[in-house]
Amino acid sequence: MRAHEAGALHGNDAAPTWLPYPSDVNTLIDGLWSRTTRRTEDGAVEVGGVSVARIAEEVGTPAFVLDEDDFRHRARAFRDAFAEAFRPLAGADVYYAGKAFLCGAVARWVEEDGLGLDVCTGGELAVALRAGFPGERIALHGNNKSLAEIRRALEAGVGRIVVDSLDEIDLVDAVAAELGLRAAVMLRVTTGVEAHTHEFIATAHEDQKFGLSLTGGTAFEAVRRVLAAEHLELVGLHSHIGSQIFDTGGFEVAARRVLDLVAQVRDELDHTITQLDLGGGFGVMYNTQHTPSTPEALASGIAGIVEKQCHELELEVPHVSFEPGRAIAGPSTQTLYTVGTVKDVRLGGPHHRVYVSVDGGMSDNVRTALYDADYSCLLSGRVSEEQPEVVRVVGKHCESGDIVVKDEYLPADVRRGDLVSVPVTGAYCYSLASNYNHVPRPPVIAVKDGEIRTLIRRETEEDLLGLDVG
Ligand code: LLP
Repeated sequence: MRAHEAGALHGNDAAPTWLPYPSDVNTLIDGLWSRTTRRTEDGAVEVGGVSVARIAEEVGTPAFVLDEDDFRHRARAFRDAFAEAFRPLAGADVYYAGKAFLCGAVARWVEEDGLGLDVCTGGELAVALRAGFPGERIALHGNNKSLAEIRRALEAGVGRIVVDSLDEIDLVDAVAAELGLRAAVMLRVTTGVEAHTHEFIATAHEDQKFGLSLTGGTAFEAVRRVLAAEHLELVGLHSHIGSQIFDTGGFEVAARRVLDLVAQVRDELDHTITQLDLGGGFGVMYNTQHTPSTPEALASGIAGIVEKQCHELELEVPHVSFEPGRAIAGPSTQTLYTVGTVKDVRLGGPHHRVYVSVDGGMSDNVRTALYDADYSCLLSGRVSEEQPEVVRVVGKHCESGDIVVKDEYLPADVRRGDLVSVPVTGAYCYSLASNYNHVPRPPVIAVKDGEIRTLIRRETEEDLLGLDVG
């Protein structure tokens, strides 16, 4: 059991040891903010050439503010770094994992920038297709795909369906037969590697729902069945080991295990597997504890691993693909909130904690409550000369675990009406957003060259009431 963050027996107002006392509480910490974020002379933060004050006035708060240049720069950086590192081998390409954040505009950027797209539900597929994303560059995932999802994907001509279970082999084969085509499939292999990250988001250890286990021969049996199926074409093997991972150690073990299977298939079934997908999971900086690698370092590290292991197993190096989501979308976005109630809570003795309430909360960022994530934040509408003070930024929901930023230094004069920005909210915040307490979801706006463009509009009370048809 983990202790409740805001349970009855809290009572220590000290900053956690990892949180450094800021030399200047107004500073934008390097690496935390999207590439066009800066402070203007009047002290306000601007991003994409637009000040947060203007955003608050024109769009309102809370709002997800997406720095278009930043997103596209990262997408291209991953595309180029992997293409470059694997060029001397059999090449590599990058699929953006849409589960991190997807909308029509993002699908179009990803398309224009030459990446593929990983979708894992019919809904994500629908967004991609409506945006005109070419089917052959789409990969469909999912541990429980419906027949309708499989049919729609095949009709759209998706480049690959990543098959997740033995019975799904029969499903895809049957739908492909019905449509009179051969379906290109990858098999998702569970390598037993547990990534160094929070347990809830480590998806490749054995005792979980994803994939075909190497242990006990399930994955091998799946390969045998796909090769025997009339309407399936085996494109390759897939492995995804987890999320928010900072080093290549987990990829090394996973790649080795998948390549062992490639060798076994060669030896026992006389078939050459020519493609691997090593999934996503590259970590980002949410606070000063995190030190993410560059795309270049990741790409060259993993290319070296794959080359060495193929050499040891006397295998041709396969073409490799990757599926980063968080590392592309996460750092591009900040959530802009307006401060409401500021409460100084006495904790006994000399201890107290300042609770800064904002106009959103766990409905737009559930990651703090769900994964113990430690976000950062900044007073973004102005600078302050006041001393830094540790605060807890909380939302407006009817729940004490409704915490956005557990511990952060803000200036001691933070007050109602101030704007606060939380960086690195571009991945798994909007996509995990809810209407808890009937709070409408915030908009997602793109900012670039002084322009604001609404990508997803703010939900309204009418939207919510419109669903209530009973
Ligand atoms: N490929 C597959 C097969 C995946 O399952 C995932 C993430 C990715 C790629 C992208 O992983 P990324 O590069 O974004 O780490 N909601 C959690 C994360 C769940 C990840 C699920 N799968 C969170 O907010 O941390």
